[in-house]
Amino acid sequence: MEPVKIGLLGLGTVGGGTVNVLQRNAEEISRRAGRDILVSHASARDINKPRICKTDGILLTENPADVVTDPDVSIVVELIGGDTLARELVLKAIANGKHVVTANKALIAKHGNEIFSAAQKKGVMVAFEAAVAGGIPIIKAIREGLAGNQIEWLAGIINGTGNFILTEMREKQRDFDSVLAEAQRLGYAEADPTFDVEGIDAAHKLTILASIAFGIPLQFEKVYTEGISKITGEDVDYASELGFTIKHLGLSRRTDKGVELRVHPTLIPKRRLIANVDGVMNAVLVKGDAVGPTLYYGAGAGAEPTASAVVGDIVDVVRVLTSDPENRVPHLAFQPESLSDFPILPLSEVQTAYYLRISASDQTGVMADITRILADNGISIDSMLQREHGSDSESATIIIVTHTTIEKNMDEALVKINALDAINNDVVRIRLEHLDAD
Ligand code: NAP
Ligand code: HSE
Repeated sequence: MEPVKIGLLGLGTVGGGTVNVLQRNAEEISRRAGRDILVSHASARDINKPRICKTDGILLTENPADVVTDPDVSIVVELIGGDTLARELVLKAIANGKHVVTANKALIAKHGNEIFSAAQKKGVMVAFEAAVAGGIPIIKAIREGLAGNQIEWLAGIINGTGNFILTEMREKQRDFDSVLAEAQRLGYAEADPTFDVEGIDAAHKLTILASIAFGIPLQFEKVYTEGISKITGEDVDYASELGFTIKHLGLSRRTDKGVELRVHPTLIPKRRLIANVDGVMNAVLVKGDAVGPTLYYGAGAGAEPTASAVVGDIVDVVRVLTSDPENRVPHLAFQPESLSDFPILPLSEVQTAYYLRISASDQTGVMADITRILADNGISIDSMLQREHGSDSESATIIIVTHTTIEKNMDEALVKINALDAINNDVVRIRLEHLDAD
């Protein structure tokens, strides 16, 4: 049988890794797929640039449209990134009857509804395992392995660059900028690294996870997004003293009123496995009603871990090339006509616990004022620390960990606490999740 021909858009970190894995493991991959798989055509901005892979035998072009219109190509693998040119090329590939594999979470989170609908009409597949959590087969796990469950919630460390930065800062006291530069050198970071640092990349990924977990359309614009740039060493140390680690988490939970969609730094108990996921590693905790909590762990970024997911998708597509399009696994896990319009919960209605760091003048009654405001807003305190600082001991840092409350109650309480005369700077608030099984 003729080999299946792949057209590759992009020969950078993931594109180069994909060529290497396909070449190195060609025989095993062919035994799994039932066909040989060959990269026949590839595009890059500059085809004369040195590459991490061998490109002998691959027709190279600087015009990506040549790849998506090549009649010999059956599967287009989009590894350019961004959501403008990539969207145009993917839609063109679909219109030309090509199956598509992509690692592009921005593209899927923002334009997935349009892309899947076009693919559905054309009877082609769009596979995107590498778009979430690098090499971890989390899309397949939720979409297929957990198909018998009602997913209750999921929480994940889903940005490798951010986790790498937080780990290096905590363990080696390195500064933010030098660790970010290293993540860029290692090929972990996005073309625009603010996507990693400000949580946008994690929000893209959470959008995708929530959609396949809860059977809702992709709604990137509704994700509450906060990055890691404001986490200080002081908060990391206080959190540790109280038995918590600060991780940058994406969280989505189904509640009676709607689905929570939020990405932010989060204190989690040190004893949780996920609290010990460090460096570029990612982990996703998924709680299903039947299976209970499950945890998926692996490299979240990098050439070959990501290529592992891309090649897995290519094999999946090759296996079903001749199958009836009506009987394939739906792109978003649920049949397209069965997606629900269940609302996304506004952040003000989200229920979570909090870590508060309060810098106050050491005046009589300040603690009483703070605790009264919290109590008046229905917020109960779980634990507290107080540290005097400054040689004159005239000011103090108060750390409060609360029990779970509603975000809007905390918003109201913080307005009142910040207005107290004795408060020196706005209170630092970091959300806290226990991530227990129930
Ligand atoms: P990259 O190293 O920057 O590679 C991008 C490739 O696309 C390069 O070969 C580049 O050509 C080509 N390209 C860029 N703009 C182009 C344009 N306007 N026209 C034609 N070609 C263009 O990026 P990457 O890290 O491999 O990421 C690719 C995709 O995978 C992104 O969507 C990213 O979010 C996703 N992803 C990355 C990782 C990771 O660990 N890096 C993990 C998971 C998912 P030149 O090489 O000639 O410049
Ligand atoms: N920049 C992304 C990260 C790449 O660091 O997680 C993997 O999606």
